[in-house]
Amino acid sequence: MGRVFVAGSINMDVVATAKRYPRIGETVAGDAVLYFPGGKGANQAIAAAKLGATTTLIGRLGKDAFGGELKAFLAAQGIDLSFVQETSDAHTGTAVITVVDADNTIVVIPGANAHVSVADVAAPVLTKGDIAVSQFEIPLPTISAFFERARAAGATTILNPAPAIEFDAGMLELADILILNESELGFFTETELHGTDAPARFIEAVRSLQSGKDKIICVTLGKRGVLAFINGEPLIVPSRTVNAVDTTGAGDCFVGAIAAQLAGRKSIREALAYANAAASICVQRMGAAPSMPTAAEVEAVIAESHEQRMQVAAKPT
Ligand code: ATP
Ligand code: RIB
Repeated sequence: MGRVFVAGSINMDVVATAKRYPRIGETVAGDAVLYFPGGKGANQAIAAAKLGATTTLIGRLGKDAFGGELKAFLAAQGIDLSFVQETSDAHTGTAVITVVDADNTIVVIPGANAHVSVADVAAPVLTKGDIAVSQFEIPLPTISAFFERARAAGATTILNPAPAIEFDAGMLELADILILNESELGFFTETELHGTDAPARFIEAVRSLQSGKDKIICVTLGKRGVLAFINGEPLIVPSRTVNAVDTTGAGDCFVGAIAAQLAGRKSIREALAYANAAASICVQRMGAAPSMPTAAEVEAVIAESHEQRMQVAAKPT
């Protein structure tokens, strides 16, 4: 079995729930304020660990109250935290999130995450068969250094280029698997994409990335599931129909689940179906990190879907 190494952000998510988003310059009354552990790196590491992978998180926390709370939460998730450092140079990463009708807007203030350094990612020793995962909430030179080391060790690299920012082609070349959502794909390909667009629009946009056939590209499409390119061929894996209450962290759950499955030597097709099922559980709960499902929960929904298919197949016509 391989192991999962995530180099990424750790945030406290300060969440306001409301009936609608304020317009610019407007104030609206919210319903609740909630504090959840989050950050793309932490969320993905927690998902991978809860889904059964031996997982190490590389990151930084501030020496403050949020940092202390996050450290205690992460320690209870079964993640190796030997490479999570405390820094007195900055506050703990914080995300200010508004949730309306299961959807969200996020402003993220990096704080200590901006201090995750090339030296930080040089410390853990990766080997062949391991999976290295990163996202764009830590400095780009750190991600490049992490992936270069991972590649040299024979590990597989997964890049989740979120939130979308400009990056150079060298970074793309260092990723074996690219996982992004529709708005990130729109940003990188300078295409106007909407959730309701026909799959052909997304397929065309992915092809315009010109990243080569050997790279696996997964575009998460929210409740529509995922569009994956394997050996250059598109494949759509539909998601389960569920009652979503908060999609924050759904993409992270998907990434963590893919990493855990590949570390467990599953094929990418098996991993896609599994990650879709995992993320469909995550969206039915409030918050990012605390919404990540366990392996038993994912197996139960996969078994339930299988049972439903068998019943439909057995029905007399
Ligand atoms: P985030 O809100 O964390 O930024 P994202 O935009 O990165 O999420 P999405 O594309 O919204 O990611 O969702 C990731 C995956 O979660 C989807 O591919 C799908 O598997 C699952 N998912 C998201 N929304 C729903 C939903 N309403 N119903 C079922 N599954 C969902
Ligand atoms: O992907 C969701 C995450 O993005 C949140 O947990 C928030 O911390 C931001 O980093």
